[in-house]
Amino acid sequence: MSISVVILAAGQGTRMKSTTPKVLHSISGKPMLFHAIDAAQMLCDDITVVLFHQAERIQKEIEAHYENITFHRQNVQEFPGTGGAMKGVYVKHDKVLILNGDMPLVTHESLLSLTQGDAHINMSVIKLKNPSGYGRVVIDEENVREIVEEKDCTPEQKKIQTVNAGVYCVQKELLERYIPQLNNDNAQAEYYLTDIIKMAVDEGKIVHPVYVAEEEFKGVNSKLDLAHAEEIMQTRIRNKWMKEGVTMRLPQTIYIDVQATFEGECMLENGVSIHGKSHLVNTHIKAQSVIEDSLIENSDIGPMGRIRPHSKIIGTHIGNFVEVKKSNLNGVKAGHLSYIGDATIEEGSNIGAGVITCNYDGKRKYQTIIGRNVFVGSDTQLVAPVTIEDDVMIAAGTTVNKNIKKGELAISRTPLKTIQNFFYKFFGDK
Ligand code: UD1
Ligand code: CA
Repeated sequence: MSISVVILAAGQGTRMKSTTPKVLHSISGKPMLFHAIDAAQMLCDDITVVLFHQAERIQKEIEAHYENITFHRQNVQEFPGTGGAMKGVYVKHDKVLILNGDMPLVTHESLLSLTQGDAHINMSVIKLKNPSGYGRVVIDEENVREIVEEKDCTPEQKKIQTVNAGVYCVQKELLERYIPQLNNDNAQAEYYLTDIIKMAVDEGKIVHPVYVAEEEFKGVNSKLDLAHAEEIMQTRIRNKWMKEGVTMRLPQTIYIDVQATFEGECMLENGVSIHGKSHLVNTHIKAQSVIEDSLIENSDIGPMGRIRPHSKIIGTHIGNFVEVKKSNLNGVKAGHLSYIGDATIEEGSNIGAGVITCNYDGKRKYQTIIGRNVFVGSDTQLVAPVTIEDDVMIAAGTTVNKNIKKGELAISRTPLKTIQNFFYKFFGDK
């Protein structure tokens, strides 16, 4: 079946109280509009996004991640409202699925269910204890009669608890005829897309209500909604990976980006955050560690470790308070309190407590290369760019500011001096 999808995203989103457009607010590492686009892409090849407020910014963001999305600019001044948003939209296929850009939790299965059957229009409805804010759906027998916006409701209609969830599947032919006929003769002086329902019914068309899950279809309008939506999304992501074999201790305390992936047997302890396109294989991340956009294989990290973007860590032990950035570590031990940035470290090397790569001179970043079986003593500073060949020992407290050859010992140390009885001279006899 061929369908077209139109995503309405021209609204201002004032309730977010943000300079960032509503639909670009992120849920689990992805703008909420992208969640909707991804669900739509599983159904069809013809997606139109309707924009107005901050249109350039949103379009640029979409184009950076997707191809083949059509953009339509709503003429909001002349035709405000969801019906106005559909004016001048041209789609390829005979069936059109219309959804809001602020529904990041909607799944493609639910969208698919809205495209089934042979009614002229399928529309999503939810039963709510508190229907306030939504359009009320008047249902006769099995079929929808009309949608009345809250501001246009009679006191009697306001009591209706079946509300419009805002997703519709409509035959293109009907849209093409009804949209030009819409008027703004209502409490908000807007062009309501919802008025097409009554037009269809008046022509004897069948409008079928499809009951959908409130959790999926509730729109995000405020930062509070955003936080709730993220909680739901996180539960889905964690459940999915636990089913795939990832062990999680106190899962509710763990954050996982929608793009992160796991393989083999991984274990995440409480308070762990996994960001970006991280990929973890047979790895144990201990409590309160943060992983960003990195590949980690057969390793253990933390507790309280931080792996920053573009790191590749294989067969390695990273202990507490160790920060790694843009580095390749293979078969390494770095147990305590280190900063390893822009470095490559090879098998069998040990990084002592407090070792720091001095990778930045205030202008540029430089590389630190460490070969195999290198013992880097505690509190060593590696002033990059610097190369340490295989089988090197570096004494504790050394400042390494030149390359070290294979097999050498490097030591830079101010000789220790002692002064007898200094303590008693200073503090007096006790
Ligand atoms: C709309 C429905 C209401 C339904 C509710 C579900 C209408 C008239 N009413 O309410 O029955 O219960 O959705 O959430 O359709 N948009 C535009 N251009 C506009 C106005 C809105 O593109 O001029 C977009 C928004 O960006 C948003 C979507 O349409 O993605 C819905 O707009 P919103 O204002 O949230 O919905 P309501 O009109 O309140
Ligand atoms: Ca509105």
